[in-house]
Parts: sequence; structure tokens; C-alpha cells
Amino acid sequence: MSEANGSDAADQPTSEKLVELAKRRGYFFQSSGAYGGVGGFYTFGPQGASLKGNVEDAWRDRFAVAEGNMEIDAPTIMPEPVFEASGHLEGFDDMLVECPECGESHRADHVVEDNTSYEDAESLPIPEVEEVIAEYELVCPSCGAGLADQAVETFNLMFDTNIGPGDSQPGYLRPETAQGIFVEFPRLKEYARNQLPFGVTQIGRAYRNEISPRRSIIRTREFTQAELEYFVDPETDEPPLERVADVEVRLYPVGEQNDEDGSEIETTIGDAVEEGVIADEWVAYFLGVAKPWYEAVGVDMDRFRFRQHLSGERAHYAADCWDAESEIDGNWIEMAGFANRTDYDLSKHEEYSEDRFTVFKQYDEPKTVERATVDPDMSYLGPEFGGAAQEVVSELETLAERDRSAFEGETVEIELEGESHELPVEKTGFSVDEETIAGEHVTPHVIEPSFGVDRVVYTVLHHAYSEDEVDGEERTYLELDPEVAPTFVGVFPLQSDDELEAVANDVVDDLRKAGLSVTYDDSGNIGRRYRRQDEVGTPFCVTIDYETVEAEETTVTVRERDSTEQKRLAVDDLAETLAAIRNGDREFEAL
Ligand code: GLY
Repeated sequence: MSEANGSDAADQPTSEKLVELAKRRGYFFQSSGAYGGVGGFYTFGPQGASLKGNVEDAWRDRFAVAEGNMEIDAPTIMPEPVFEASGHLEGFDDMLVECPECGESHRADHVVEDNTSYEDAESLPIPEVEEVIAEYELVCPSCGAGLADQAVETFNLMFDTNIGPGDSQPGYLRPETAQGIFVEFPRLKEYARNQLPFGVTQIGRAYRNEISPRRSIIRTREFTQAELEYFVDPETDEPPLERVADVEVRLYPVGEQNDEDGSEIETTIGDAVEEGVIADEWVAYFLGVAKPWYEAVGVDMDRFRFRQHLSGERAHYAADCWDAESEIDGNWIEMAGFANRTDYDLSKHEEYSEDRFTVFKQYDEPKTVERATVDPDMSYLGPEFGGAAQEVVSELETLAERDRSAFEGETVEIELEGESHELPVEKTGFSVDEETIAGEHVTPHVIEPSFGVDRVVYTVLHHAYSEDEVDGEERTYLELDPEVAPTFVGVFPLQSDDELEAVANDVVDDLRKAGLSVTYDDSGNIGRRYRRQDEVGTPFCVTIDYETVEAEETTVTVRERDSTEQKRLAVDDLAETLAAIRNGDREFEAL
């Protein structure tokens, strides 16, 4: 590449040029353009759909197949109780500020971040955000009217709908694919033969009604996630850290972010765990798996880091979280989150549903344990507590399990609807007995690598975007990795000529039979056809010319995208040679 990515001669940021190229060449564009378009919805065109599919396949190979995890495909609409349990109804909010003049809605934290030195306004409480807006006299990004007196409000990001006619069964478009995995845990654990640890993956759409979607496919209202929910026994399961100990990573931990002189740390996963920089070993393991994956799909490792979430930034379910971030025109964007969700989700679904979200852990040897129980005298509780007698029984049972010392005196105290009641211990039937048990019910903890597929696609395109000069002409090309490039080879007959076209069609058939993705192009001069394929990132082009049909040995010109170097190769070996290059077994330079 003759010119560094992102440092173009013109001042226009790469993002702007990329968005234009993406639309022109069929990567992505705003949806429903015929009706004026609507913010936050994008269609992936033929190139984009193919690139995205290749990224998803690469993710599936690494995070499902290579890790031995199961993949599922759950519905995108789920009933309301799921999100009552998950906490999304209550707390999946962004901060909204409305312009008093033009009525435009904005994310208050983004208004603050874009116009002050605050880097993480999302973690601030609302009154503080209001104060900052007033103090800095921040204005509406659309019309310039002052926002100082405007209230900042919470806005729930879920899209709601009704399931079936009427409104008796509200539903929501899932804001994360994860819930589709959690709610099926009672069945999934059976498929895993009740053995922890096990992982379940899902690649699918998720929906968030963003207040102000922006930066093309980076922040959209409908997007694709690739998520792994890895269920572990927090007491006994340990990750195979030795597999990733030597993976080199650039980390930006909380301590460094909070320190004025703090900076990113270059280290290895093994050292980061040993020195306590990454406290959670499971999270560390998946960071170690993810880094080489990002590199393999074409993320520039000089523009990549893992950043730990500040405490106010973490989602309501997360104990610790690190983001994979990529640099885009001087800004860091999140491509994935690696969170320890603890037993938050499974405990909530156990509490709200009628199913069991635990795994029965069999002991190697049965254990004898003491169990405190109650057997209350109902002839006493009935007259004393009337309709609340059953509630008293369950309070006593809970208390016996939790704090047997409460039964040591003459009386025991319980709370009933905020009031305390004393009752004689002799009426509770309290006893401590020995019991032999074969195992126990464990609520697994969940480690979640959660990838935003669209953001990976965007980053890969942005980092691949390159400009140079070929034969005195400026050229734009996408230096996409062959593993993800939508098309691997373009085939061109040099001119409109039956004989050349016949050979070109045979070559296309051969290459397709070898499993390569091929495009045939016979329109325009050969230079233009090369430029077209360069712009969509096709690694190789094959040209059938007169030498192909006239010379004794049938050869074609094969041109490599990045170097523009051309070599003549025999047609007979062409499919095999290019397939070997595609699989990484041969190199073009060495041919
Ligand atoms: N499942 C994590 C997220 O959607 O943010």
C-alpha cells in the first residue's frame, strides 16, 4: 500500500469517502430511500451482505465450532415478562433532551461529550448532565437553540409491539440476542447433559430505538449481534488460560483511564491476569480468543485495543466488562463487550418464571449435611394469623434456612408486610436434622462475549480503505482479507469477442466449481474493470486475452489487487492455484 490508511491527500475523513463508496458499490446504504429513508436503518447491498456473511461465518467457526459451543436461533420478538425479568423494561434507558425550538431529540450524554471534555457522560447521573448542559450553555446540534433549561429524561430503548390482535399480550423486539439464550436455559442445559461449563451462541438481529442514530452503520436501530453466553460454575470452573497466555494485547484499564497521565498498556493475556490488570480470568480468556480473530478478519491491530468499562458505564447486569475498540478517524468505537454477567440473568428468570434455571451438580461422594427445618403448629398459627398463616410458614422456612440462630431463644421474630411479629419457638416445630445429599443446584454464572457484527464490518472496511496512484492515476481500493472479501476473483474477457468470452466463461465455471466466489465482467475498458474490482476489494482479477487463445499453452493474466502485479498462469492449474491462495496454502508473490 503506497499510502497509509486514513491519511488521505484530501482532507475528507475516510468515513465520508467510505460511506460514499459503500453506497456506490453496493456495500450498504440507508433503507427505504424511495420513501425518504429513515434514520438508523440500513440495507446491506450485494457486496455488504456477502462481507457480513463472511464475517459471521468466521465468527461461527471461531466462537461456536472451534470452542465446541452450541448455536441456536431464537425469535426476535419476546413477551413482556421476559424483559420484566431481565431488567430491560426498568433500566434499558438512554438520556433524552429535547430542543425547545425545533423539537429535535438528542442523546444528552452525546451532546455533552461532543461539546465538552467529558468522555463518558453516559456514566453521569441525570442531574449532573443537566448541570453540565447549563454550565457550558450547550445548544441543540440541529438548530443551535439553548438547551440549558431543558429537562433530561430517561428514554427506554426497546421497540414495543402487540402479539396477536388487541393489546392483551405486549411484546418487545429483543434488544439483545442474549435473552433468547437465557430464557431457553432449562432446555439448553439438558442438551449439554447438565454439565458445566458449556456455551451457547447466537447470531441474529437485535433492535434498539436509538434517540439519535448516527455514523452510518455504527449506531443503527436494527443491527446484528453475534453473542456467546458461556455458563460456568463460579466455584470450580477455570478457563484454559494457557491457550491464550501469550496473546499480545493493548489494554486500557480503569486505573489508567482515571489517571491523568494514564495510558494504554502493552502486555500479554497471561501477564495481565497475573498482575491483576484483568481480574476476571474468564473474561481474559475470551479477550485472548478474540484478538487473533479480529486480526484474521482484517482489523488493523495498530488501531485496536481492549478498554475496561468505568463503573458507571457498565450495564445493569455486569460485574466487569471490557470492550474491544477500533479507531475510526481518530475516535474509538466499541465493536464488542466482554462481560461477566454473574448469575444475574438466570436468577432473575428463575424468580420471574415457573422453570428452573439451575444445574444439578452431583458430588463425587454423597455428603452428610445439617438442615434446619420448621414444621409449624397450624392450630396455633391459624387463629393467630388468619389468612396470613401460610405466609408466616414460608417466612419461618426462609429464616430457618438463612439464620438458624434466630430460633435459639424462647421466641422468634419474623417480618410480615413490614410489621414485626414474635411467636414462640416451640410452635414453629424448628429442628436441625442430618441429611445425606448427592449434589446441589447451582445457578451458573455467565461470561458473555457480545459482538456487534455491523461494527466489525464497518471497521474492516474502514481499515481496508486505501488510496494510491497507479500509472499516474489515483486509485481507491479496499485491502480486504481474502477470508472476508465478498468476491475472491473477477474474470474478464479482454474484449467483446466470442472466442475470448467462451474461454472466460469456462474459467468462471472452473473457479466456481473450486468453491471460489467469482464475478464476471465484460463491460468497459480493462482499466475500469480493474478499478471496479479494486474498489470492492476483490483480491484477484483474471484476464483472458489473445495470447490465451493463440499461444500453444493456454495461459491467463492474474493480477493481484494490492500490488497490481500481474503474472501469467496456466489455465489448467488456475482453479487449484487460486484456491490454495484463498486457503492460505500458497502466496501469489511466490508463484
Ligand atoms: N448482550 C449485551 C448487549 O447487547 O449489550
